Amino acid sequence: MRYGHFDDEAREYVITTPRTPYPWINYLGSEEFFSLLSHTGGGYSFYRDAKMRRLTRYRYNNIPSDEGGRYFYVHDGGDVWTPGWLPVKAELDHYEARHGLGYSRITGERGGLRVETLFFVPLGETAEVQHVTLTNTSDAEKTVSLFSFVEFCLWNAQDDQTNYQRNLSLAEVEVEQDGPHGSAIFHKTEYRERRDHYAVYGVNTRAAGFDTDRDAFVGPFNGLGEADVPRTGRATGSIASGWYPIGSHQVDVTLAPGESRSLTYVLGYVENPHDEKWAPADEAAGVPAMQRVNRERAHALLSRFATTEQTLAAFEALRTSWTDLLSTYSVTSTDEKLDRMVNIWNQYQCMVTFNMSRSASYFETGIGRGMGFRDSNQDLLGFVHLVPERARQRIIDIASTQFPDGSAYHQYQPLTKRGNNDIGSGFNDDPLWLILGVAAYLKETGDWGILDEPVPFDNEPGSEVPLFEHLTRSFDFTVDNRGPHGLPLIGRADWNDCLNLNCFSTEPGESFQTTENQAGGVAESVFIAAMFVHIGPEYAELAERRGLTDVAERARTEIEAMRAAVLEHGWDGEWFLRAYDFYGNPVGTDAKPEGKIWIEPQGFAVMAGIGVDPQDPAAPGSPAVRALDSVREHLATPHGMVLQHPAYTSYQIELGEVSTYPPGYKENGGIFCHNNPWVIIGETVLGRGERAFDYYRRITPAYREDISDVHRLEPYVYAQMIAGKEAVRHGEAKNSWLTGTAAWNFVAVSQYLLGVRPEHDGLVVDPQIGPDVPSFTVTRVARGARYEITVTNGGAPGARGRLVVDGAAVEGSTVPYAPAGTTVRVEVTV
Ligand code: GLC
Ligand code: GLC
Repeated sequence: MRYGHFDDEAREYVITTPRTPYPWINYLGSEEFFSLLSHTGGGYSFYRDAKMRRLTRYRYNNIPSDEGGRYFYVHDGGDVWTPGWLPVKAELDHYEARHGLGYSRITGERGGLRVETLFFVPLGETAEVQHVTLTNTSDAEKTVSLFSFVEFCLWNAQDDQTNYQRNLSLAEVEVEQDGPHGSAIFHKTEYRERRDHYAVYGVNTRAAGFDTDRDAFVGPFNGLGEADVPRTGRATGSIASGWYPIGSHQVDVTLAPGESRSLTYVLGYVENPHDEKWAPADEAAGVPAMQRVNRERAHALLSRFATTEQTLAAFEALRTSWTDLLSTYSVTSTDEKLDRMVNIWNQYQCMVTFNMSRSASYFETGIGRGMGFRDSNQDLLGFVHLVPERARQRIIDIASTQFPDGSAYHQYQPLTKRGNNDIGSGFNDDPLWLILGVAAYLKETGDWGILDEPVPFDNEPGSEVPLFEHLTRSFDFTVDNRGPHGLPLIGRADWNDCLNLNCFSTEPGESFQTTENQAGGVAESVFIAAMFVHIGPEYAELAERRGLTDVAERARTEIEAMRAAVLEHGWDGEWFLRAYDFYGNPVGTDAKPEGKIWIEPQGFAVMAGIGVDPQDPAAPGSPAVRALDSVREHLATPHGMVLQHPAYTSYQIELGEVSTYPPGYKENGGIFCHNNPWVIIGETVLGRGERAFDYYRRITPAYREDISDVHRLEPYVYAQMIAGKEAVRHGEAKNSWLTGTAAWNFVAVSQYLLGVRPEHDGLVVDPQIGPDVPSFTVTRVARGARYEITVTNGGAPGARGRLVVDGAAVEGSTVPYAPAGTTVRVEVTV
């Protein structure tokens, strides 16, 4: 069952009923100002940091779950309704929400009035624009009142929902009905003291009335769906003083039959230099010193959206910027679902993970996590081709939080860019991801200078060393921290945050990630070993290209030793082991009744080439083939591959959080989508493209659209998890949007299935997608040149393409980089 459809031409998903199984959201903004917006208008806005600079309030664990957002109430001759359906829930004659790239358009119609609202964050602005168009679709003249509504948050989103003894006495606003560009409400709580920022909510007309006090607008005993002011049809002119500040404008509109009128609302963040915080005292105008906010910057903001033409021009600029961004990689094939994921939605989601990391979604509150060290490095794999300059800065920011011994803070805070002491370090996979991120950046850009960039440790001024030295420390960290089998020590956890082999927690509420009750030098990770064998060669390659031959050689020796250790101590018989626990017992072995086989080491080891027969990768019998065949046998389901099997049915103190989830959910036998692409890529390494593409389709949302009633989350973006085969709700997704799944699936589909990937000396073209996509064209812009790659694909197992570049046959699968500005035509026959 579906709740809408894709509109690929417009690059939108069109939701045709407000009754989706869960709020289906979108993100506005990609610079400093961000909004989360659900298909009914729910959500909130913030400036840079979802915890510290929250403009509007959002309630967690709410009933219904998504009530609170920016709403427009219509009062039409006593009939009160909201065009996004919520919160009033009056039946609509027509409803539609279109989520596009950085914007959404929500339309509702009732009783002969159509209200369409376009929401977006314009480029270069710290504001959300709400462009409302009212159309009289009846054959009689209509006079209606429109009441806008936002509820202000007192900036620190955590404090805002806990510290009422202080907060309920703080709120302050100013209202300007006859401003230079219409009416405006200024939310200035705490501006009288240390804050140098306020929020403004303006509309580009003189409003007939306003409210800024929530109880006056809603009524103390009402929910938002029964708000008083829209019902009575008269704003009260309330001025918030303490309690709960809101912003609402009443605009009265008279429309002839068929007539439309547009209004532009702007919700903005305004920051003033400290010595310009206040408007000068002006006795004649009744403005005392240090009482009225300096409105100049707010007026300047509103002036840029004073007319519909200005607003629509800003919207066009946003559309164009997305067209440009997405032109770096696109495919045209016979499979429209593949095309829409690759060309639009997967890349879009990668940009959202770049902006948000794991901070703010409908599953992450925006007050908890900072930027993850490993998460951000992996996210980079999905956006480096889109915004290479910003990826460069991100790399420097991440590396600056590393410690001198190569270990890393697990998270850092986006505003301060400093490591997060509450979580600390000890996640022993973290350092290696930095190498992977930097290598991806170099392959994309060829910007070798970044390796000489001075980068501090732990943000300590004076500690700067060239970035390359950080990579050496990352590499050495793994080398220096090995256990009894020569495999890397796991520390608090590796990629799997919930495999906590040194934790041994008996205290409810104790963090599995930060507790090490029995830290010993024994518990080892086969997964980190596989990472080392996969990522280590990237480091050796960089060393080589810097002329450090001995460094490269030493690195390769270490890598081979690790490969040997995995094959000797990391192999269970039919698949790779997952780990050794605190006592030195194997984890992920057939010898145990539960958690026999885990997905992560299988995918990553094969990606790394461990146990792959170089002569004939697909030939039966090699460890790699057996491992991935075991994955198929034990882990694959129609909804994707589960993380391990069988799931744990009881708490295993020596394993930690992984066994806390009921079977089939999250890291305990859930389909944790992030690691599925490792198996997909692994299958392409074995030349089994058909199987790889089959796996790809099982978790990719566009292919799951028809079962939206089962999947339940947005059919246009990946979710972190789909409930596994032992779960009560097998196939149901959770945690959409902010997941490493986005980047890794983009890598899997663009670089391995379609097979176009940047390497240091050129673009490799090596499609491994099987026979289901018989032909396709990829357009890839790399280092300023454009590659038009046409593939005729027989799809035979293991077949490698023959390349003709600009008319001449070439050996191998690398197309050398061409000068910027040129176009290269590549024909490939597989
Ligand atoms: C979450 C975390 C990520 C971790 C994964 C598996 O997605 O953000 O860091 O690797 O869970 O536990
Ligand atoms: C990771 C895991 C999640 C766990 C969290 C704790 O994100 O995926 O299951 O609750 O870490 O920090």
